[in-house]
Amino acid sequence: MAVQEDVFKKVISHAKEYGYVFQSSEIYDGLSAVYDYAQNGAELKKNIREYWWKAMVQLNDNIVGLDAAIFMHPTTWKASGHVDAFNDPLIDNKDSKKRYRADVLVEDYVGKIESKIEKEVKKAAKRFGDAFDKKQFLATNQRVVDYQEQADTILKRLGKSLEREDLADVKKLIEELEIACPMSGSKNWTDVKQFNLMFGTKLGASADTAMDLYLRPETAQGIFVNFLNVQKTSRMKIPFGIAQTGKAFRNEIVARQFIFRMREFEQMEMQFFVKPGSQKEWYEKWKENRMKWHLSLGMGEDNYRFHDHEKLAHYADAAADIEFRFPFGFKELEGIHSRTDFDLSKHQEFSGKKLQYFDTEENKNYVPYVVETSIGLDRMFLAIFSNSLKEEELENGSTRTVLKIPAVLAPTKAAVFPLVKKDGLPELAQEIVDDLKWEFNVIYDQKDAVGRRYRRQDANGTPFCITVDHQSLEDKTVTIRHRDTMEQQRVAIADVKGIIHQEVDMKAWLQKMQD
Ligand code: GAP
Repeated sequence: MAVQEDVFKKVISHAKEYGYVFQSSEIYDGLSAVYDYAQNGAELKKNIREYWWKAMVQLNDNIVGLDAAIFMHPTTWKASGHVDAFNDPLIDNKDSKKRYRADVLVEDYVGKIESKIEKEVKKAAKRFGDAFDKKQFLATNQRVVDYQEQADTILKRLGKSLEREDLADVKKLIEELEIACPMSGSKNWTDVKQFNLMFGTKLGASADTAMDLYLRPETAQGIFVNFLNVQKTSRMKIPFGIAQTGKAFRNEIVARQFIFRMREFEQMEMQFFVKPGSQKEWYEKWKENRMKWHLSLGMGEDNYRFHDHEKLAHYADAAADIEFRFPFGFKELEGIHSRTDFDLSKHQEFSGKKLQYFDTEENKNYVPYVVETSIGLDRMFLAIFSNSLKEEELENGSTRTVLKIPAVLAPTKAAVFPLVKKDGLPELAQEIVDDLKWEFNVIYDQKDAVGRRYRRQDANGTPFCITVDHQSLEDKTVTIRHRDTMEQQRVAIADVKGIIHQEVDMKAWLQKMQD
């Protein structure tokens, strides 16, 4: 656990030191669970958004984009159920006065059991070597089977209690498991209470006439209320999808994990409208498609897993998370939900406007069912950033810090260095920058020895360094160094663009989804 915490601390400090993420309003001591993206962070975020948008909107003939406003008519949230049911169960520790999400306390307890299982697996894999069969081991090793059963029983009970709104049983579960406050070790808990996560605000200048509004807690509702407008103006036929990215706001109870759980964050959501009865089939298809999107980034199959929900949200008939191995364990990265016709039907009811589709094949009107994919952009950022940060031992005994961000998403694609600051090398290096910058984010760097410049760019996540030396003036060649392998090649300046393209081209990366 301590090792995990150290890794996470390194991730946070590296994100600050290299201009990725800053605490919001830091000069005023910051704002809890609100963050700003700095010069590199803004680029990485933009690239992730584009990678998602291309895969969703550009490559699917039957998905179109939308950019709905953050402010929405307040009835939206009454209809969607958020006013009444968008709650988290909170519990306070009477001694430390710290507030927690009761379900997260229990899930963290289960996380510890799962870590024990992982430890057993690692030990056995070492012992059995190539002959190790993980599936068989998980099914037959008595200790592991017992751990798994214990974890499943706890989660099942938690799911049931939350579904029944039996908050007294959630407290009982915490007490039975002897869960202590992580800050103080105290087991002196208050009762569990529900807490609504929406932020309220007001629209209008006069106190008498101002309208109470909410900052949207998800982008999805902007899609639902525009469903018919988009369908009619785009002449889309079912099945079709609407995608959008944008800010969402939640007054999170527990917000202590950097950009994992923020109060202001960005979502990338897609609602796929389908014929009633076909939702299960589309749900499975989108689960598979979204996992392929993740795997196309090459961050390791072992770092992802599906988690099927025990407790379904008020709008869903099936739901799963894609979980990622963050520095603090496997946690939700993306949700795939079969939302039935809940949202459209509710908006129809509350607005009095028909939100139906006329199916020409069936010759009838119906309210479509919806399968949703919903991923947090900031959470995806954290997954990439934390997985990419490596400390490597080099052959000469030294170490290097390298940020192995998938090249397609790296904020800066190449850094160009003149070997020395004279003899016309800076001019040629600048010429190369001026040519490359039309296609890629590139930077010029002439400060310090070349070795230090390499280290700086490794830590910054830049996939290529290009060094201009005296030979470059004679034969128009440069050295190009690859971040991950540290290999260096002598290549013609005219070939540099092609080499970078080959590694950062979005098409090649996204095509891996078809493998
Ligand atoms: N429209 C469905 C929906 O909003 P959700 O599971 O509540 O579902 C979807 O959220 C995704 O949004 C999550 O998987 C997560 O990646 C991201 N997300 C949710 N709350 C977040 C928060 N407080 N901070 C950062 N990301 C968050």
